[in-house]
Amino acid sequence: MNILGIESSCDDTAAAVIVDGKMASNVIASQAVHQQFGGVVPELASRAHNKTIWDTADQALQNADIDMSEIDGIAVSQGPGLMGSLLVGMGFAKGLSLSWQKPLIGVNHIDAHMYANFIEHEEVYPFIALIVSGGHTRLVHVTAPFEQTVLGQTRDDAAGEAFDKIGKMLKLPYPAGPEIDKKAQTGDPKFADFPRGMMNKGLDFSFSGLKTSVLYYLQDQNEAFIKQNLNNICASASAAITEVLVVKLRRALRKHNVKHAMLAGGVSANSMLRQKVHQMAEKEGVEVMIPAMEFCTDNAAMIAKTGEMRLRDGMTDELDMKPFASIR
Ligand SMILES: Nc1ncnc2c1ncn2[C@@H]1O[C@H](COP(=O)(O)OP(=O)(O)OP(=O)(O)O)[C@@H](O)[C@H]1O
Ligand SMILES: [Mg+2]
Repeated sequence: MNILGIESSCDDTAAAVIVDGKMASNVIASQAVHQQFGGVVPELASRAHNKTIWDTADQALQNADIDMSEIDGIAVSQGPGLMGSLLVGMGFAKGLSLSWQKPLIGVNHIDAHMYANFIEHEEVYPFIALIVSGGHTRLVHVTAPFEQTVLGQTRDDAAGEAFDKIGKMLKLPYPAGPEIDKKAQTGDPKFADFPRGMMNKGLDFSFSGLKTSVLYYLQDQNEAFIKQNLNNICASASAAITEVLVVKLRRALRKHNVKHAMLAGGVSANSMLRQKVHQMAEKEGVEVMIPAMEFCTDNAAMIAKTGEMRLRDGMTDELDMKPFASIR
């Protein structure tokens, strides 16, 4: 089965081809235009998608050495995301579907972050996924394909958002997650004692207390101190975020007696998180799936993979399919 995937939910225009479950191509056109604003500007994102989507899809087909006539289904991010951005990808996918008479498959972007793991790992159920992206943080219990219950989620900021906002306070370029990760690797995670939000309670998350704590901490220090200890502060903030994430994942696994865990979303690229999850899984006797780096942040291979699973299970969509902005 050959699936073309289209992703345009935020600021990456992406297209990919999955052939018999495996990645044949994965093309991403990232939008540098947002960097000067320190965050994504929705209208500029839509315009950039509109400009690049055709060439991006064409490149994905070329890289996979496959012709549109050989494609069995067109999968597209349906939401959540920025409405203007989603509409560009969806309009493009619908046009292709209509003109080539190929099935159209709407894919939930957050589901796709999880199922990205099955590009390289055997499909296995049940599992508990810790989804940590720029816009969402959730624990999900998945018992069969697309059969899932949300066990917990963030009450305020997402984990990626916490990294990005703390990075902004430290004057790091957007998105700051990868930069904090790099600096943290040579820093002392015990240097500053930042709060672990809701650590001992339930399966929901909260990162706003940490953000405020870092803000007050920085206000009390002079610039030379911050500059000198940047790596230590990055390591301490990363420790506060990742410790809570791993403790909650372990709690969910124990509570539901599940033996497979999964990381998903952009923050699963974080080296401290990956290491802590591996250590936890080993201690608990749990198998852990972590996506390859290229499938952590937004990409279209995850959309194509999820589309393939949906087509396999008879879940296709009609041309009246509408994008949705908020998580479902
Ligand atoms: N190594 C890393 N360490 C920490 N955070 C990281 C790392 N790499 C990426 N991130 C964070 O991941 C986020 C981007 O992830 P992703 O592309 O999954 O999010 P999104 O698509 O913006 O949000 P959503 O998927 O919720 O709509 C950003 O907040 C970024 O800072
Ligand atoms: Mg995403």
